[in-house]
Amino acid sequence: MPEISVTVNGEPHEEAVDDRLTLADFLRERLRLTGTHLGCEHGVCGACTVIVDGAAVRSCLMLAAQADGAEVETVESLADDHGLNPLQEAFKKHHALQCGFCTPGFLMSVTAALREEPIEDADQARDVLSGNICRCTGYRGLVQAVLDAGAAK
Ligand code: FES
Ligand code: FES
Repeated sequence: MPEISVTVNGEPHEEAVDDRLTLADFLRERLRLTGTHLGCEHGVCGACTVIVDGAAVRSCLMLAAQADGAEVETVESLADDHGLNPLQEAFKKHHALQCGFCTPGFLMSVTAALREEPIEDADQARDVLSGNICRCTGYRGLVQAVLDAGAAK
């Protein structure tokens, strides 16, 4: 079993992992960070999106062993003792979630995108959102939330 050394939400972890363990299962089952959701497990829905070394990745398609030496951020890193972060507040304000299953993935995809460049119009927001699937919201609130958070940067 490979030994990995990985930093998750700022905390270092040294773990022995099975070769076939996915990063998603490692986060959920080993570290109990269950905010990362598993929908399709085929890289389609985006519910499992986390940030690895600054890039949004599908954690269902990445092996835990591949995260050796990496910095991983999950949805649990967004809020702090003072409350939700501005993107989460924007989701709340614009009703950008209903059941919430897809929400962690959207939040992490948008977080990674906003670090790269501001999101200033609806087409750009839709482009950023297009990698994730929501079965509830109809996307209108999602676009508004992303524009709101993009403008707040
Ligand atoms: S669960 Fe990973 S993309 Fe759907
Ligand atoms: S809020 Fe239910 S799947 Fe998106």
